[in-house]
Amino acid sequence: MIIFTAHMNEIDAKIKIDELTKQLNEHNYNYYTLSQPNISDFDFDLQLKELEKLEAEFPHLIHDDSPTKKVGGAITKEFETIKHKYPMLSLGNTYSEDELKDFDTRIRKIIIEDFEYVCELKFDGLAIGLTYKNGKLIRAVTRGDGVQGDDVTNNVKTIKSIPQQLKPGDYPDEFEIRGEIFMHRKTFDKLNDDYRKELEAKGLDEEEIREKLYKNPRNFASGTLKMQDSKEVAKRPLDCFLYFIYSDVSIAETHFDSLKKAESWGFQVSDQYKKCKTLDEIFAFINKYDIERTNLSYEIDGVVIKVNNYHQQQELGFTAKNPRWAISYKFKSQSALTVLQKVTYQVGRTGAITPVANLKPVQLAGTTVKRASLYNADEIDRLDLHEHDWVFVEKGGEIIPKITGVDISKRQLFSAKILYAIHCPECGAALIRKEGEVVHYCPNENVCPPQLKGKIEHFIGRKAMNIDSLGAETISGLYDKGVIKNYADLYELNDEKLIGLEFTVGDDDEKKKRSLQAKSVENILKGINLSKKIPFERVLFALGIRMVGETVAKKLAQHFYTIDKIANATIEELINVHEIGEKIAEQVVKFFADENNKLIIEKLKTAGLQFEMVHDESIVRTDKLLGQTFLVSGTFIRSRDELKKLIEVNGGRNVSGVAKSLNYLIAGDKMGPEKLKKATDLNIKIISEEEFMQMIQ
Ligand code: IVH
Repeated sequence: MIIFTAHMNEIDAKIKIDELTKQLNEHNYNYYTLSQPNISDFDFDLQLKELEKLEAEFPHLIHDDSPTKKVGGAITKEFETIKHKYPMLSLGNTYSEDELKDFDTRIRKIIIEDFEYVCELKFDGLAIGLTYKNGKLIRAVTRGDGVQGDDVTNNVKTIKSIPQQLKPGDYPDEFEIRGEIFMHRKTFDKLNDDYRKELEAKGLDEEEIREKLYKNPRNFASGTLKMQDSKEVAKRPLDCFLYFIYSDVSIAETHFDSLKKAESWGFQVSDQYKKCKTLDEIFAFINKYDIERTNLSYEIDGVVIKVNNYHQQQELGFTAKNPRWAISYKFKSQSALTVLQKVTYQVGRTGAITPVANLKPVQLAGTTVKRASLYNADEIDRLDLHEHDWVFVEKGGEIIPKITGVDISKRQLFSAKILYAIHCPECGAALIRKEGEVVHYCPNENVCPPQLKGKIEHFIGRKAMNIDSLGAETISGLYDKGVIKNYADLYELNDEKLIGLEFTVGDDDEKKKRSLQAKSVENILKGINLSKKIPFERVLFALGIRMVGETVAKKLAQHFYTIDKIANATIEELINVHEIGEKIAEQVVKFFADENNKLIIEKLKTAGLQFEMVHDESIVRTDKLLGQTFLVSGTFIRSRDELKKLIEVNGGRNVSGVAKSLNYLIAGDKMGPEKLKKATDLNIKIISEEEFMQMIQ
């Protein structure tokens, strides 16, 4: 074990930094590429921390490939566009054995001598081109339009299985390796789940949440790779398989051998690839992975078949879009046939109704499917769904399986058409459907139990009042027992009401009894009490006004300062706040006009919650930049965040891209040349940090 000694001299520090960098990179390779770690996570972290400390003390000794950079580092404000040295072509797709036979016949017409294919998995992610110079990763570029893509090097550096420094080997001085960046299914499930909670906490309704959630791991990986802050990228672990090398000098005779070489230099190459000589062997490979794919930890959407020999590849050449020496076979999306048992309806926090198909359990893509979303009444009509229909369920990119069709030949005689619910399944109120909207709502927002429970859950959420000693289950239990009816009731809870209280938790599939003990009651009450210190903007968000998410709440709080001013504001006054539109304004006015809400707010005021902004004396607000837009790009003496804050407090507005409407571009060091050119072309005023500071003097 290496022990950190407090004040090292520079020579010793250099030796230690070099040693730690090398060792930790080796550990990363063993762990991420070979999946054979030979150090505990704990010891790894200890060494990493030691390296971080030394690097902080001696920044000039940091290596370009330092493992500390892998946990997120520099912020790339906008991606530079890079022209691909070798165009990034896509592959021709086939979906049937016949099409594959045609491909094989075409090749056999041109290549008369003996030849073989390599079959590989078609990873469902994003193509990336990695350029290495003298064994060092110098650039990572996305596919873009195939001719040019985005430079996402900083983000790619957070991917632990991508080596920043190759192991010693016979690699060319400069070459490009292409591969696929993807996210493992488990990571996706966990992160998307967290994201859902975050969106719920922001006050979005089910429909909006479903729209925003990442649809599948590829979608998430793509969103991640395009993020501006590589620290955020590092929080969403990505992975990468490499599958093709481009180089001006020859590396090997065959594709197969070059993959082996790439592996020896430290690249992660999937071990699921195989040389095949005949079509039968190819079909066997395809069929094997059409079944096996559900057991893989990542998604594949087909198989790629490549002619192995490079000379033969050259002979075959390219069409305008694709190589003639490779093709992809795409799997059909997986579906299963099962019986619809009944349609039930879920009620969300905002009263939005989601119809759910309850199915006879069926195996699909490695999981048992019991339910499928039916989205809305239109979808049920579109499917012409009848009672006890046999339905096809598919797991496309979506997380929740969906019904793609009905097998009408199996429909029972006289089976009735499914009619959409007229009443709320929870409170019996007549459902409404607003003009132009597809979703039905239960309008009984002050009475309907799931809506009320949902509002309280939102209120205690991490980004709202942060009462983490309470959870959804306890809230539901307290509500069912009649101890709380709304979030203001939380502040009237005490030992007497809570200790020993019994309630049931869980859904229909599994119910459990719970009883509150003195210790957890103490925690609950402590959490509630602490929440009285939560600042006004978060209290405002916690109230759960429709369309008032975290950002809108902040804007309203900063503009009006007190709850009374917001409650008394007219639609016009509300719209005057930047980025508050008519729809939001209407919801705010509606919320504060509601007698029940007025009562709840009075109770919360009595309980001592923060309903006014605390004035920050250190910030001097002016209108000097009112109506002006700014783009801050490059590096400056001050931090970019500081400059942006100065723009805001002086009445200006920050924007994220160069457009005609932009008033000022504050240009710093190292700003992207593309951006500068665009701004010059559009005649936008380009100013320095100094000139900007003079504007607000
Ligand atoms: S080879 C010229 N191999 O599928 C060679 N591509 O439409 C081109 N892909 O853009 C790529 N797995 O993003 C190759 N084993 C694999 C692949 C693969 C996934 C992606 C890649 C490419 C697209 C083809």
